[in-house]
Amino acid sequence: MPIRKIAHVGHPILRQTARTLSPEELASPETQRLIDDLIETMRDANGAGLAAPQVYEPVMLCAIEVNKNPRYPYKPAIPLTILVNPEIEFLTDERFDNYEGCLSVPNLRGVVARATHIRVRALDRFGAPLDYEVKGLTAGTYQHEVDHLFGKLFLDRVTDSSTLTTWTEFERYHMAAFVERARALVARDGQ
Ligand code: NI
Repeated sequence: MPIRKIAHVGHPILRQTARTLSPEELASPETQRLIDDLIETMRDANGAGLAAPQVYEPVMLCAIEVNKNPRYPYKPAIPLTILVNPEIEFLTDERFDNYEGCLSVPNLRGVVARATHIRVRALDRFGAPLDYEVKGLTAGTYQHEVDHLFGKLFLDRVTDSSTLTTWTEFERYHMAAFVERARALVARDGQ
């Protein structure tokens, strides 16, 4: 399973709305290979998620997984999840200030307000329907990945550009306060 190249901010593929996958297309060996490669590439890069447009395939497909991630040591575990043609519905007006990073935006993080309770409807990699609710920090991870399928990067949602930081300066100046807020949210919502 080859590890694919990851597109960086500035590449137009990250700015287009991805194409919906038909059931036949999803079942095809090409798409199933793409899913395997997406998982492999996400794990290799220590991503919490990876969307198909980030590997130059503009289709409605993303992978999410958190398992003792060194890039995000404070994130609760998320089992490997594949979302096909996902839709997100906000179930609350409450927002959490999430410090986000992205494999397509090297060495930059910034604060994005994310809904703390969402409903996700999608297909899994075998075409079976998924419909469930996600809360807390994990809901932020879902919103970040699904944004990629609509040509959105976390940068577009940063409302206070003074929060932008390299990873080194994040660890030096911002991580402690953020981790404290994140842990309180995870303790409340369990995710
Ligand atoms: Ni990203």
